[in-house]
Amino acid sequence: MSSVVWDRIRARPWLDEPPVDIGATVTMLHSEELRMLRWLVREHYTGAGHIMDLGCFLGGSTVALAQGLQASGKPGWIETFDLFQAEDYAGELYGGDQFRAGDRVRHIFDRNVAPYSRLVRVTDGDFLTAPLPDGPIEILFVDLAKWHTLNDRIVEELFPRLIPGRSVVIQQDYVWSCCAWIHVAMEKLKSSFSYLCHVESASVLFGLDRPISREEASAAKWSVMAPGERDAYSRPRSRPGAARSGP
Ligand SMILES: C[S@@+](CC[C@H](N)C(=O)[O-])C[C@H]1O[C@@H](n2cnc3c(N)ncnc32)[C@H](O)[C@@H]1O
Repeated sequence: MSSVVWDRIRARPWLDEPPVDIGATVTMLHSEELRMLRWLVREHYTGAGHIMDLGCFLGGSTVALAQGLQASGKPGWIETFDLFQAEDYAGELYGGDQFRAGDRVRHIFDRNVAPYSRLVRVTDGDFLTAPLPDGPIEILFVDLAKWHTLNDRIVEELFPRLIPGRSVVIQQDYVWSCCAWIHVAMEKLKSSFSYLCHVESASVLFGLDRPISREEASAAKWSVMAPGERDAYSRPRSRPGAARSGP
């Protein structure tokens, strides 16, 4: 769907902005992703629903979102979720002399986010069982749907609370090969969403056009779909003339 609101985001106006200064915070996000998060909260967010930061690691996404909120002068806070326990790859790639795989990293997050602590509400633990805030959601940043059960909870419990014509879902793992359940759910629900844009290096933004009922959301869960249905949604569209390589 084309709308003035979505077209403004499609233009990726954050590309003209300076980088987000995240200080000493180590992040897995690309510089454009940080600028996009800051811009979305500063310019698009109205306070009509929550800002959700699902999977913050050491706080890179949190700092970018909080800087946007601070600059906007609008009321609200960032709802941030993480296990705060370094996964194997995180320990190897980002730990340095600070932490190893399996270590708790909450203290590093707290240090990084300290300048914005009054703008951030942290839920520390497994997202599968974490308490969720009530009410609508306006900005939904998804960076922890690394397993289908996590994505199922997001789809079932959060998607029905998105606001038509307003809510933006940022799927951080969309241009990444890890998490087919995200694409399958978004394809199943595609009549409710508009594709907005791709942001370097992995995020894709969607705007909600039409409300998603609880029944529709439940039917988009990976765990309830038969394998054949999952395949149908994840099959690449054929490219005319493309030669097949491999078996
Ligand atoms: C790719 S990282 C997030 C990167 C972060 N957004 C940044 O700005 O650098 C994914 C995060 O998801 C978290 N995560 C994975 N499974 C989780 C679960 N079951 N509950 C809560 N957090 C989880 C991990 O701890 C990890 O920090």
